Amino acid sequence: MSISSELNTRRIAAVARGVAGKSIYAARAQNAELWDVDGRRFIDFTAGIAVTNTGHRHPRVMEAVARQAEAFTHTCFHVAPDEGYVRLCERLTALLDTGAENKAMCLTTGVEAVENAIKIARAATGRPAVVAFGGAFHGRTQLGMALTGKVMPYKKGFGPLPGSVFHAPHPNEFHGISVEEALRGLDTLLSAVVAPEEVAAFIIEPVQGEGGFNITPPAFLQALRALADQHGIVLIADEVQGGMGRTGHLFSINHSGVKPDLVTLAKGLAGGFPLSAVVGRADLMDAPHPGGLGGTYAGNPLATAAANAVLDIIEEEQLCARAEEIGTRLKEALGALAAEPGHAAIGDVRGLGAMVAFELVEDGDPNRPAPDLCAAIIAEAERRNLILLSCGTRANVIRLLPALTIEAHILEEGIGVMADAIRTALGTVRKAA
Ligand SMILES: Cc1ncc(COP(=O)(O)O)c(C=O)c1O
Repeated sequence: MSISSELNTRRIAAVARGVAGKSIYAARAQNAELWDVDGRRFIDFTAGIAVTNTGHRHPRVMEAVARQAEAFTHTCFHVAPDEGYVRLCERLTALLDTGAENKAMCLTTGVEAVENAIKIARAATGRPAVVAFGGAFHGRTQLGMALTGKVMPYKKGFGPLPGSVFHAPHPNEFHGISVEEALRGLDTLLSAVVAPEEVAAFIIEPVQGEGGFNITPPAFLQALRALADQHGIVLIADEVQGGMGRTGHLFSINHSGVKPDLVTLAKGLAGGFPLSAVVGRADLMDAPHPGGLGGTYAGNPLATAAANAVLDIIEEEQLCARAEEIGTRLKEALGALAAEPGHAAIGDVRGLGAMVAFELVEDGDPNRPAPDLCAAIIAEAERRNLILLSCGTRANVIRLLPALTIEAHILEEGIGVMADAIRTALGTVRKAA
């Protein structure tokens, strides 16, 4: 029996089944490669879901964390604050363009950043309601679930969820929802369901993550900005998955030219250490009273040390430009695969920077999702030692999130394995059908 199978047996016995996932038991990882407990080597096209954008164990991150660990590991910012947290907030506020003075705060997880951004927007506006969008994913807490626009596996059976949360359609060209149609949906919501004067915030992912790497068209973000200005609504860009250089800009909303009021950051922020942040207009950030924001572990010194190193790495290794290069190469390879005879199932290839995905559908029909094919490709890739992840409200999208520091030859090796896995799975599925 392999060590992995033994661990799997122990896991099934000890870990709640709701915490689902793969059975690749990590022993060590370096940059874009991972070795499991049985010594199998994998190429990692997930970066721990867009977390290790700077690669597993980037030497600069490891050094910064080790240095911090020598000094102290935790004091709690509310008890004995530290320079690393303050420096990180100074840097993040300088990097974000809201058109105003900014402030920032640190937290631990992505959903905590989302929760706090909503708290700040509600405190600043004195309004209760929040509008999110179809297909969105904002996390797994009660409010995170309420904001999320995908029922399974995120919301089903966990209600009642917090109120005053509304959803409007998200534009999706591949599925025939135009910007105009989505805006009409929002208009209906604001006239038939909730008054704009009661809306504290719009929260939107400039590129939807779990929802299927759907790129929010700039025109839609611009229209949201105009509506937010008209009605005094706070525009929150959830950059938890798309931020920190992943899309070729530090913040994915920068592609649209729209200035957000608040952004949420996590995942790639600290290169593998648990840290999140809310950054935005100082007048909004300062709305909550002293003591109203924070948390015991929020802005842990090891994590802020890692984040300060990550910001240095992004700049010095020009990772935004590298994200563009990686994304261009991935889209080119996927485009070629989609054009191969018998590959109509690759219905759409899309992405911003190195946040790239392909959507699998029956016979090229956007309305006939192919989740089984999606699962088959991922399983085949895994057999060939490449780690891929799915996403999409219909579980029929494969997302590619390699480290932005991935070596060129490892990227090519991974692309080759992915191509073989796609061809094999398509053949298998066709034979089985
Ligand atoms: C856009 C977005 N927001 C929020 C979250 C929640 O982050 P976390 O899982 O760290 O709570 C995620 C996680 O995938 C995300 O992609």
